[in-house]
Parts: sequence; C-alpha cells; structure tokens
Amino acid sequence: QRISLWGGRFADGPADALAALSKSTHFDWRLAPYDIAGSKAHARVLHRAGLLSDDALATMTSALDTLAADVVAGRFVAADDDEDVHTALERGLIERAGADVGGRLRAGRSRNDQVATLFRMYLRDHARVVAGLVLDVVDALVAQADTHIDVAMPGRTHLQHAQPVLLSHHLLAHVWALLRDVQRLQDWDLRADESPYGSGALAGSSLGLDPQAVAEDLGFTRSVRNSIDGTAGRDFVAEFAFVCAMTAVDISRIAEEVVLWATKEFSFVTLDDAFSTGSSIMPQKKNPDVAELARGKAGRLVGDLAGLLTTLKALPLAYNRDLQEDKEPVFDAVDTLVLLLPAFAGMVATLTFNQERLNSLAPQGFALATDVAEWLVREGVPFRIAHEVAGECVRVCESRGIELWDLSDADLAAINPSLTPGVRSVLTVEGSMGSRDAVGGTAPVRVREQLAQASEASAAG
Ligand code: ARG
Repeated sequence: QRISLWGGRFADGPADALAALSKSTHFDWRLAPYDIAGSKAHARVLHRAGLLSDDALATMTSALDTLAADVVAGRFVAADDDEDVHTALERGLIERAGADVGGRLRAGRSRNDQVATLFRMYLRDHARVVAGLVLDVVDALVAQADTHIDVAMPGRTHLQHAQPVLLSHHLLAHVWALLRDVQRLQDWDLRADESPYGSGALAGSSLGLDPQAVAEDLGFTRSVRNSIDGTAGRDFVAEFAFVCAMTAVDISRIAEEVVLWATKEFSFVTLDDAFSTGSSIMPQKKNPDVAELARGKAGRLVGDLAGLLTTLKALPLAYNRDLQEDKEPVFDAVDTLVLLLPAFAGMVATLTFNQERLNSLAPQGFALATDVAEWLVREGVPFRIAHEVAGECVRVCESRGIELWDLSDADLAAINPSLTPGVRSVLTVEGSMGSRDAVGGTAPVRVREQLAQASEASAAG
C-alpha cells in the first residue's frame, strides 16, 4: 500500500509509471532541513491558534528534532514510495510522533506554500555561499592587480592593440563586474525576503494561523501580501538563475582572456602546474582547462536560466505541477558555481605574468597614435585635423617599418608644423598612461585609488 498525502478520494494507488514520473526526492532532498524548520514554525502557530495542545507541540517538536538529526546522519532517507521530500518527512514525523500528533501538522498548510517557502530559504542561504565564492575570485584579482601595479599592457578593442593601459586597470575591470554580481545577489535577497508560508494551496488559511509569525521564525522580514502570488510566483527563482548565469558569463570573459594569454603567441601568463593539465599524447602540453571549463560551464548556466524561463512562460495562476521543474536548474547553477569558483580563484591567484613582455608590447601597434592626436588638441589643433596628422604619422612609420617614437624632429615637422618635439612627452607608455588621469582612467594615480576602493568593496561585500 502506497503512503501518500492525498489517497482519500482514490480507490487505488497511482500507476507505477505515474509514480516514477511524479517523484522528486532524488533532487528535492536537499530541502529537507528547511522543510523541518518550516514544520517547527508551523507547529508553533498551530499551538498559538489553539489547534495543538502543549503536550502535542512538545512531542511534535522533539520528533522533528530527532527527524532532523536522522536526516543529517543518513538514518532517515526517502523511501521508494515517497513522492517528494515533503511527503517523506511527514512519514518520518508520523513514525516518530505517532499518527495522532504527527497527523495534525498538515492543518492549514499545503505543499504549495511549503515548497515556495523552503525554496526561498535554500536560495537565500546559497546566495550567501555563492557571493562569498565570487568575492574569493575578486580577492585573487585584486591581489594580482596590487602586485603588478607598475606593469603596462596593450589595451585592446576589437582584439587589436588600442592604447596602453595598466595591467591592474584591466584586472580591476573584471573586479567591478564581479562586485556587481555580488551586489545583485544582495539586491535579490531584499525581494526574496518574503515568506509564502500560510498561503495554503493558493487562497490562504482559515485556521487563524499567523503568517507573519512563521515568516519571522524562518528568518524572513515579512509574509507575502498575496497568497496566489506566494504559491505561484517564481520570479525569485528566475532572477537568482539570472544572477548565477551573469556571474558565470563574467567569469567566462576572464577565462577567455586567460586562454589567449597562455598561448605561445601572447605569452602574457604562465599557469601554475596545480591549475593546468597535460595531454595524454603530447608530452609538452600545458592546457588551461580551468579556464576552458569556466567558459564551458557558463553555457550550462545560461541553459539553466533559459530552461527555467521557458517553464514559467505562460503558466496560468496559481500552482501547477510544472513548477516542480523549477528546482533542478537552479540547484545545478548553485552546484556548478560552488565547484567552479574555488578552482577559478586558485587559477587566478597562481597566474605568473610575463611583466617584461607585457611592458614591451604595451606601446606597439601604434598604440600611442591617440596620444599624438590628443597632444595636438591640447596645442590648439582641431581634433579632425589632429586625427589626420596622427594617422599620417602612422602611415609614414608603417611604410618605413619604424615606430612612432623613431620619427625624427624633421620627420614630425614635415608631417605637420604643429608636431614640435614636445609631442615626445606622450610618445612613451608612461606619458600616455599618466595623461589619462581623470577619474576611472588608467593613470597610475587613479588605478591606485581604484585598487583601494575595490579592496574596500570586497571587504564590505
Ligand atoms: N513537489 C512539488 C514541487 O516541487 C510540490 C508538491 C505540490 N504538489 C501538488 N500536487 N500540489 O513543486
């Protein structure tokens, strides 16, 4: 005989194929500790409403505590016949508290408000875990930026040499993106901070139970304003999945650069042995697998988000069983980030930068041409002309196979009389970077400020 929460109106149990389809214990078991915490809070409001005697409350609470310990120890596990974690735990409660006391707990609650609440609790806890791991990557990047504060590199647009920048400025660009992801998790939490417990199946409870008391008991500031929204709303799941996907996408952009930087052609970085892999056939190989897996797993997290949104699209109110499909994508997103981020932080922390090469490549590819044009503007030349003149300098250099700083005073004057020897002040990497000293620019003085701000933001996060 199957044990179920809804057998009454049925003459017989479900078909095996339906039971197999319906089952979710293999993935929702991780909600068990939250389910038990919810049950204890619910028992307390039942007691306060006069629906549970002092003795029954004591029996139930101690049975729930035993059950919680048994779950942790693996002494209580889902049975073949348990449809979901909620069903299994009610069975576990009845086994421990007896059918009379145990059977009273379900009054005034439904698995619909239960699961909506537990899922929020799980995600709120794991938002903190994920944020902490993102901050570990931030710290690794900040430490590298700090160590290499004097190193220049070729800044790129379209992957072509554009203007010299400090390596630290580039690394901190990734830091700000990741700090926004952490901030998104914190913003998300403000909206997730509402308990649907007490919404019942969809219409609310008639038993005089206090949803606000349960909410506070479970660490929420308040209960939901609308029981239909409380049981059917899943934007909190989608938003969480978005932040996870965005984080993975931001990580993948660092990853892609590490993959490029570790090539023979770039030779910007060397990966630590502990964070690279070899080849089974090519003995010389040292592969950037951590970065590649990060790039790959970003696709997986985008898929988790897309799958979830597709499940939610056009779903009528209120609860529909489709919503059981909301859990695996975000569980996967959390598990993936929990696996990926520590490896990624380790890889970043142990990167060795080829400082000489970065410095020497910084001005190449005529990366100082913009500095020539802007120097002319400061000399009073209209930018349209300055741009042409600097372009002419590049053309002359290219035809002669020389760099901008190789042009003689006579060469410069021949290109345009405004090009006096004073222009040489910006024909160095230091001059170029130092001149970009407005807030947010790559001038060392600004980047030092930025570094301090980033460390502070990370410590506060
Ligand atoms: N296991 C379900 C879920 O994850 C909750 C059960 C609700 N079932 C129901 N028939 N109302 O969404």
